[in-house]
Amino acid sequence: MSKTWRIGVAGLGTVGAGLLKFLDERPGFAPAGGQALVTGVSARSRSRPRPFDISKLAWFDDPVALAQSDETDVFVELIGGSDGPAKAAVEAALSAGKPVVTANKALIAEHGAELAALAEAQGAPLLFEAAVMGGTPAVKMVREALVGDEIKSVAGILNGTCNYILTEMEATGRSFAEVLAEAQRLGYAEADPTMDVGGFDAAHKISILAALAFGCAPNYAAAEIEGIDQVDLLDIHMAKDLGYRIKLVASADRSADGVLVRVHPSLAPLNHPLAQAGGALNALFIEGARVGRIFVQGRRRGRRADGRRGGGRHRRRDDRRRAPGLPGAGADAPAVRAGGPVQEPQPRLSAVPGEG
Ligand SMILES: NC(=O)c1ccc[n+]([C@@H]2O[C@H](COP(=O)([O-])OP(=O)(O)OC[C@H]3O[C@@H](n4cnc5c(N)ncnc54)[C@H](OP(=O)(O)O)[C@@H]3O)[C@@H](O)[C@H]2O)c1
Repeated sequence: MSKTWRIGVAGLGTVGAGLLKFLDERPGFAPAGGQALVTGVSARSRSRPRPFDISKLAWFDDPVALAQSDETDVFVELIGGSDGPAKAAVEAALSAGKPVVTANKALIAEHGAELAALAEAQGAPLLFEAAVMGGTPAVKMVREALVGDEIKSVAGILNGTCNYILTEMEATGRSFAEVLAEAQRLGYAEADPTMDVGGFDAAHKISILAALAFGCAPNYAAAEIEGIDQVDLLDIHMAKDLGYRIKLVASADRSADGVLVRVHPSLAPLNHPLAQAGGALNALFIEGARVGRIFVQGRRRGRRADGRRGGGRHRRRDDRRRAPGLPGAGADAPAVRAGGPVQEPQPRLSAVPGEG
């Protein structure tokens, strides 16, 4: 029997607006037999012009109230930020036993364990496919499709802004600052680009993938992070002369000593798939004990792709069974750690994983 799920959407920015437009254009969207109907919204400013009509939707100044509303069956968090209103609202929804869908990698990477524990205790799904690789189903692949394998490492290009900047620097011979300014003009980079070019965004994403791959709590605080802000044209040209391309690679490796999560500029041989993933593409290698190497690549963030993913997964019945998706606090998990025997001294540029 078809059910209508009343969706409360907190955050009407790039992703929230994409989701509402998508659902507006496809009112019959019901991939798992139930219809998604947005009934309530929350954002900072009620009067800000939006690319869709919100006048018929219930408005909530406070996203926590939206999460708790009796009219909200499923809560979609698209505010962003690891703490503050996003976290409070997600906690409120989970505490009320409601499914939560979020694209918020900072929230999951920094508080995933406690939120997963809450979700587990309440039997409520906590879904975050759009938090990593936008339109490419990386979370689902690691979390579900590869659940029977022993994953040894995960590595990839997880920040499209950095990939775009490095690609343009090489292609046009322009400096980091020039290409960044252009990326900001084109909307590829935020006004404050620190999260992207500093490597922090990629570190959030790889922390989530590491947790899913290795069955441990996400531990963003332990990640080693270096961005691309110190990469200059000379580095790029010298790398190319030697047969390499510089990529910002995020990786997670497991050894007997623990899990090491790193983000840093790396040298990829020119014929390596990561070297060939240019522009704003994202790309990911997963190495499993049985399946060997799997490679996926896809478009970076996109209003449509991310919006769809933000709301499109909440109705899978088996997601309720697999509610939290991340091991909660106290899960039997290898320690996520940097330093000690796992960590080799890292030169500023090192080879991509598996390439010596
Ligand atoms: N942008 C992407 O392509 C992308 C891709 C993947 C994942 N994500 C993730 O998706 C999330 C949203 O990103 P975004 O780019 O859509 O952000 P954004 O454009 O900055 O939009 C943020 C939205 O949150 C609202 N907001 C801020 N504070 C609020 C509060 N206290 N209460 C209620 N609403 C509040 C804002 O309201 P106003 O509109 O009134 O200011 C705005 O609508 C983030 O976690 C981000 O990491 C983004």
